Amino acid sequence: MRKFGLVLVLMVVVLVTAAWIGEVTEPAVPASAPVGAVGATGIGDPYFPDLGNGGYDVQHYTLDVDVDIATNTLDASVIINALALEDLASFSLDFAGFTITRLEVNDAPAEYIRENREFIITPNAALSANTPFTILVEYNGVPKKDLSLTRSPFSGGWTRYSKGVYVASEPDGASLWYPCNDHPLDKATYTMRIGVDQPYVVAANGTLEGIEESGGKRLYTFAVRDLTASYLVTVNIAKFTRIDEVGVVPIRNYFPEDKAFEAQFVFTETSDMIAHFGELFGEYPFELYGVVMADTPLSFALETQTLSLFGSDIADSEDATIVVAHELAHQWFGNSISPKYWRDIWLNEGFATYLSALWVEERYGAEQFEQLMRSWYRAISSPQFIRRAALVGDPGASNLFNAAVYFRGAWTLHALRLNLGDEMFFRVIRTYYDRYKLSNATTDDFIAVVDEVAGIESEDFFQAWLYEKEIPE
Ligand code: TRP
Ligand code: ZN
Repeated sequence: MRKFGLVLVLMVVVLVTAAWIGEVTEPAVPASAPVGAVGATGIGDPYFPDLGNGGYDVQHYTLDVDVDIATNTLDASVIINALALEDLASFSLDFAGFTITRLEVNDAPAEYIRENREFIITPNAALSANTPFTILVEYNGVPKKDLSLTRSPFSGGWTRYSKGVYVASEPDGASLWYPCNDHPLDKATYTMRIGVDQPYVVAANGTLEGIEESGGKRLYTFAVRDLTASYLVTVNIAKFTRIDEVGVVPIRNYFPEDKAFEAQFVFTETSDMIAHFGELFGEYPFELYGVVMADTPLSFALETQTLSLFGSDIADSEDATIVVAHELAHQWFGNSISPKYWRDIWLNEGFATYLSALWVEERYGAEQFEQLMRSWYRAISSPQFIRRAALVGDPGASNLFNAAVYFRGAWTLHALRLNLGDEMFFRVIRTYYDRYKLSNATTDDFIAVVDEVAGIESEDFFQAWLYEKEIPE
C-alpha cells in the first residue's frame, strides 16, 4: 500500500513536470533519452533568426497531398529524408497550422511541440551525426491565411482563389503548407504527388511523371531532380491547357484554358532568352523550364524553379518581355546561385533586373538598352526615390523587395560593366556563376570574385553602390 502510494506520487510529479515542460521553449527531453544536442530553431540568418533550422540537412521531400478544392482542405503525408549533422536529441522543422495526425522518426512514433512556426520534434532515440534519418508527418486542414505570419505581402504560401490555387512563398510561405527547413541554405529534391478533383489540372515544379485516375480524382506525380529552395516550390491548380515546346531545353507552359491563345504570344521568346543567357553566363541550370499563368490577375510574378509563376494580367502588361526575362534570369541568379542569407537578396533581384535589360539589348539593340538604363538611373537618382530607398546590400528584413534592391542593384552591375569593359565584366560574372551555381553566395563572395578575376580593389566601388544612400555619378 505504502509502495503503491509512492509510485503514485512519482507519477504525479512526472505528469506535472511534463505538462510544465510542454509550455516552455525548450523541447521536452525524456530523462531516458540518449544524449544529443537540441537542434537550433534557426539556421543563422541575421534577418530572420527563426527561419530554417540547425543540426540537419534535408536531402529529399516526398509530398503526398490530396486536395479538396471545394473546401481548400489538404490531406497530406510528407516524408523527409535528412542527414543529421550532429548528435541530436531533438530538432525543429518550420510548419504552421493544420492538425497533425501522425508523426514518426525512423519509423517510430515521436513527440512534438508546436510554437508559432516551429515544429519541435523529439525522436524516441537520439539521432547520430552523419547518419540519415526519416521523418513522416501526416496532417490535414485548411492552410492558414494569416498574413501577419508572413514577412512579405505576397508570401502567403498556398493560396486559394476563385478559379484555383497558386503557391508563392518568397521568402517564408513554404512552411504554411508543408513542414520544411524553410531557408535557401538547405535545398533539396522533391517528389510531389498531388491529387485533385476532375477536371482540374495540376502544374508543379519539375517533370510530370504520370497522371493516374481513380474515382473521379486525378493524381499527378512530379519529380523535382534539381536541388530547390523551399520558397521556390510551387503547386498550381486550375483548368489549365499545357503547351509543350522543344527549345534549348524542354519547355512546357500552362495557361488557363480560356486564355491560352492570347497567353502564348507573351512567352514566344523564352527559348531565345534561354539560349542568350546560356551563352552569356553558362548553360541553363535545370532539367526543364516553362511558366504557369494563374487564372487570376496577380500584382507580381515569381521565379518558382523550372516553372515561373505569372498572373493573367501579364498579357496586358507593356513590360511583359522584361518581366518574362526577369523571372527566367532568376533560374541562374537566385535559384541556381541562391542567397546565403536574405540580406543578400540583391544577388537575386539586382541581377535578374539587369539581365532583363541585357535581353532588351540583345533583342532591340544598344540604343533601346541605353535608353532603358538611363530611365532607371533617372528613377533611382530622384530625391523621392532616394528618400524611400533601402540600402541595396543590407535592405533590412522588412525591405527585402524595396525598389532600390532591384533598380539600383541592376545599376551596380551596369556601373561595374562600364568600369571593367564588356569583356572583363562578362568574364567576372561567368566566373561568379560557375563558382557558386547550384549552391549559395554572399555579397562578399561576389565582390571577392570581382577582385580576383579583374585584379582590382573594388571595395570603395561596392561601398558606394551597395551601402550608401547617395547615388554615384
Ligand atoms: N521575386 C519576385 C520577383 O521576381 C518578387 C517577389 C518577392 C514575390 N516576394 C514574393 C513574388 C512573394 C511572389 C511572392 O521579383
Ligand atoms: Zn525578381
